[in-house]
Amino acid sequence: MVVVEDLVRTFGTGDTAVHALGGVSFSVARGELVALKGRSGSGKTSLLNIIGGLDRADSGRVTVDGTAL
Ligand SMILES: Nc1ncnc2c1ncn2[C@@H]1O[C@H](COP(=O)(O)OP(=O)(O)OP(=O)(O)O)[C@@H](O)[C@H]1O
Ligand SMILES: [Mg+2]
Repeated sequence: MVVVEDLVRTFGTGDTAVHALGGVSFSVARGELVALKGRSGSGKTSLLNIIGGLDRADSGRVTVDGTAL
């Protein structure tokens, strides 16, 4: 249903760059219940924004129900 492959998202550049997602991969089957857990700033919102189509990754792939975002 949702396939996430090697997602990378960096905010900013140079010395102040923040590596929010450093190569995230997982898949979620239809009907599967998943919880996303992590300390503040670990990249949960960054990941969900990309899966939801609100933001773009710097690299990697997201496929939702067979459609590549
Ligand atoms: N638009 C942005 N511009 C710059 N840095 C950002 C931006 N969005 C997120 N970040 C940074 O990326 C990192 C991950 O942030 P994110 O909001 O994804 O974490 P989170 O796990 O959702 O945190 P919280 O539990 O506090 O909601 C943090 O260091 C954050 O400061
Ligand atoms: Mg958040």
